[in-house]
Parts: sequence; C-alpha cells; structure tokens
Amino acid sequence: MSVISCWLLQLVLVLQLQVLVVLSQNIIIGSVPVGESLTAQESQQFSSSWLSPSGEFAFGFRKIKPNDGFTVSIWFDKIPDKTIVWHAQTVNTSTGLVPDGSKVTLTADRGLVLTGPGGQELWSSSLPQTRSSVSRGFITDAGDFGLLGEDSGVVLWSSFANPTDTLLPTQSIEVRGNLSSRRKETSFQKGRFRLRLGDDGDLQLLTLNSETLAETDVYFPYYSSNTNDPHNPGNRLVFNETGYMYVVMIDNTTRFYVNKKDPVPSKDFYHRAVLHFDGVLAQYYHPKRHGVDNSTNAWSLAWSEPENICAKRFGPYLDANELGNLACGFNNICILGDNHRPRCECPERFLLVDPNDEYGDCKPDFEMQTCGPKNNQTGTADQDASLYEFVTLRMTNWPSGDYKRYSNYDEERCKETCLKDCFCGAVVLGRDRLCWKKKFPLSYGIRDENGDSDTFIKVLKRVPSTGKLGSGS
Ligand SMILES: *[C@@H]1O[C@H](CO)[C@@H](O)[C@H](O)[C@H]1NC(C)=O
Ligand SMILES: *[C@@H]1O[C@H](CO)[C@@H](O)[C@H](O)[C@H]1NC(C)=O
Ligand SMILES: *[C@@H]1O[C@H](CO)[C@@H](O)[C@H](O)[C@H]1NC(C)=O
Ligand SMILES: *[C@@H]1O[C@H](CO)[C@@H](O)[C@H](O)[C@H]1NC(C)=O
Ligand SMILES: *[C@@H]1O[C@H](CO)[C@@H](O)[C@H](O)[C@H]1NC(C)=O
Ligand SMILES: *[C@@H]1O[C@H](CO)[C@@H](O)[C@H](O)[C@H]1NC(C)=O
Repeated sequence: MSVISCWLLQLVLVLQLQVLVVLSQNIIIGSVPVGESLTAQESQQFSSSWLSPSGEFAFGFRKIKPNDGFTVSIWFDKIPDKTIVWHAQTVNTSTGLVPDGSKVTLTADRGLVLTGPGGQELWSSSLPQTRSSVSRGFITDAGDFGLLGEDSGVVLWSSFANPTDTLLPTQSIEVRGNLSSRRKETSFQKGRFRLRLGDDGDLQLLTLNSETLAETDVYFPYYSSNTNDPHNPGNRLVFNETGYMYVVMIDNTTRFYVNKKDPVPSKDFYHRAVLHFDGVLAQYYHPKRHGVDNSTNAWSLAWSEPENICAKRFGPYLDANELGNLACGFNNICILGDNHRPRCECPERFLLVDPNDEYGDCKPDFEMQTCGPKNNQTGTADQDASLYEFVTLRMTNWPSGDYKRYSNYDEERCKETCLKDCFCGAVVLGRDRLCWKKKFPLSYGIRDENGDSDTFIKVLKRVPSTGKLGSGS
C-alpha cells in the first residue's frame, strides 16, 4: 500500500469517527436510552429529534403555525411536508400545544414525560400498572415509537397502540379502539369525530356533541362497515403493509375492505390514513422519491369516506335524528371542495360565532323574529312584510328542521306563508314545488351545483341610516 493511500485511509477513518461523534451528540437513531430528553426551542429552525434507523420517521417537537406553540409528534422526515402522524394529546391549552422551553424526557418509571418550561407536567405516556420499568425507547421505519420493558421484548407503550388521528401501514385497531380527529387543522386537542371499532365489531365513523366533546355524547354513526354479525363480528381494523385497509372478522377469514381501490405500490409510495378535523376519513399516498410514476412531490388522495360529507345526514337511529351537525356548524352551509374536503360558508346576514372557526356556527346579524307579545301573529302580513325580507340562497338545501310542508307552491307563495308565520325562520322550495317551513337553527346546510332546492331565509330588513345600510357592521 502506498503512503498516500494509507494516509487517505487514515483520513477517511478520522472523518468517519467525527461523523459518528457528531451523530451521537445530536441525533439518536432507532434506540433511545433512558434519561435522554428533547427541548422545544424557538431559536432553532430544526429542533433535535430522534430518528428511525433509515431516517424515515422522526420523533420530537414541531412548531405549529399560526398558533405559537409546539407539539410532541412523530412525522415523515424525508418528505418536504414533514407530515405529522402522531402527537401527544395534551389537554391544558385550547390548542393542545405547549410553549417554547417545554421538554420531553424518557424516564425509567413513567416512560415519556412532557413538562412545561416551569417543570409542570403536561402529558405522559400512560404505562400499564406493572412493576416493569422502561429499559429504552425505540422508533421504527414504519413510524412506531415504543417503550421496551426491562424484561426485554415486552413493549410497555407504543404510539401505534395509542393512535391519534392517523393510521400507518402495519398499524391496526382492536375492538374498542378509535382514532380521534383534531379540533382544527392547527389545534391538536381531540375534536368531535371518531373512527371506532365497536364492541359489536362494527367499524363506524361517529360524531360527538361538539360542545362537551364527551366520549359518551356520541350522536350517531355517519359510516358503518356493517361487520357486526353476532356469529362472526369484526375483530380488528388492519392497515396492512401494502396499504390495504380492512376489518378482519373473529374467525380470521372474512374481510371487509374499507379501501375501494387497490393502493399504489408501497415500495415506491408512502401511505397514510387520517381522520380529518372536518370528519372526512381519507387515505393518501406520496412518492418516496420525487418523480416516481410522474407523481407530484405531495400527498394524493386514494379514497375518502364519506365521499361527500356535505350530503351525509343524521344517522339511522330515531333518537339521534337531526342532532348536531357534520362538517359545518349550525346555520352554516357545507360546500364540497377539492379532494372530497368540505368548506363552510355562512349565509348572507349571518356571521361566524367564532371568527377563527369557519367550520363553526353562524349567528344572525339581526334580531330574529319571535312570537312574543310584541309580535302580531294574526295574519297581518302587510305589517310584517314591511319589517322582514328574504335572503335567497340558490342551489341550497337544509334537509332537516322541517315543521310544515306545502305542495304545489311557487316561490312567491312559499315566501308569503313564511312571512305570515312568526315561527318560520326560512323556507326551502324544491323543483318539485314542495315548500318546506324550517325552524332555527338550520342544520345540515348544503350547496351543490346540482342542487334541486332554493332556500329563502327570513331576515330583518336593514334600516337605512345616514345613507348607508344599517346593522351588520
Ligand atoms: C395539565 O393537565 C394535567 C392533566 O390534567 C395536570 O395533571 C397538570 O397539572 C396540568 N398542568 C398545568 C400546568 O396546568
Ligand atoms: C376512544 O378511545 C379512548 C381511549 O381508549 C377512550 O377513552 C374513548 O372513550 C373512546 N371513544 C369512543 C367514542 O369510543
Ligand atoms: C395486504 O392485503 C392485501 C389484500 O388482502 C393482500 O393482497 C396483501 O398481500 C397484503 N399485504 C401484506 C404485506 O400482507
Ligand atoms: C386468528 O389469528 C390469530 C393470530 O394469528 C390467532 O391467535 C387466533 O387463534 C386465530 N383465531 C382463529 C379463530 O383462528
Ligand atoms: C409519465 O409521463 C409520460 C409522458 O407524459 C407518459 O408517457 C407515461 O405514461 C407516464 N407514466 C405514468 C406511469 O403515468
Ligand atoms: C296587531 O294587529 C291588530 C289587528 O290587525 C291591530 O289592531 C293591532 O294594533 C296590532 N298590534 C300591534 C302591536 O301591532
């Protein structure tokens, strides 16, 4: 061997050593020793994180915009989106985010513990009540973060067994397990939708009371796999390695497929399924390397359930009829946008109750008509006609909240009967000339370019003042 090549070899060895030292200082790959911690740092563009063996997934703090806060999460680390697939569900703040200076530590007795800048505890992995303590943490190239017990081989806790809103290939849900939507795209607390494999083996999408968000206040299922055959019920929801999603029955044979199309090859594509904050369950794929199959360097939709959430309504159970809403709040109109995702739009003369939540309820900008003593309900339409008028919403329907129906009515008669009736909040007139009187609040509003109904909402006339129109400022 020449002197030069020997020297080169030494140089390479030295460089490799340096690389190793650098790696062990900043990044932990695959296995995380007890005592390690990560800190949320505003100043660092990329906070340190723990990586899976081939760097597919990372665990650490992520800064979430526009809310000023961090979430402890797991994400796809090799794609530009750095899409989050799991997050610690902290409950203390309205956004579920934690401040700059928060710290997550891997402890022997309690597993992962998240503390705020003042040392107060914000979240921890709930370990089973056993004597076994944690020997180390691990993160896999499938995206699972787990805690190994001292009796090595026993997994005491894992992100796969405690899913949030996302499922990854090789992850599954047992009976009574569920995914929970976020409250908003950037609000990481639990929202009001669940994907649950019930005790009876049925896989359902559920909506809860949006105010209490109590797990017991389930309103109704808006999707059901009907795998609740008592002789052979569903036993597990599987998202398998190649991207198929199905329910396996208790006899291990029968399968119910949730995906409606064959997935693209998992050799070239990442897959994920997410229960969005608006209630849509969707599977996406993303090329592992840019340029595979001419695909864009972004997530593409494989399928969604439901395909049109705006057109979904209250469930089959009578006692749950007409409760709540799906994607959009009361008096809010649902419009299906790109990728089967809904948008919501308040009608004219209505404003968002929470200006930061376009999916929330809309309230009138006027005093609504009541049937109190001040009101003259005796059919003196002339008088009321001078006070109220109609906002016209074409191609818009509100399939619930009817209390009277008139057949063979035209627009004029339909409006007139509402104007004369102090109970009437709005009327919907179909192409079939059926006129439906509605009570407030309106729910399940839908606008659709193929819609066969128009809505007329009764609103207080604006009082002209100083040349401008009155209220609504
Ligand atoms: C956050 O919530 C947890 C669980 O409810 C509680 O134990 C903890 O004291 C709270 N921390 C703060 C800072 O409010
Ligand atoms: C979802 O799972 C959580 C955690 O197991 C549980 O507390 C909650 O009750 C479940 N929700 C529903 C609606 O079943
Ligand atoms: C996933 O499920 C599909 C459909 O049942 C099957 O063809 C495929 O072999 C499965 N993939 C793996 C890795 O088990
Ligand atoms: C189903 O498969 C699981 C795991 O492979 C096995 O433990 C179980 O005994 C099987 N059940 C039946 C009814 O075959
Ligand atoms: C990629 O694009 C080229 C040129 O537009 C086309 O010929 C080819 O069929 C596409 N391949 C795939 C897999 O879509
Ligand atoms: C109500 O209508 C009756 C009969 O048209 C009329 O005499 C009365 O003044 C009205 N009352 C009010 C408060 O407008």
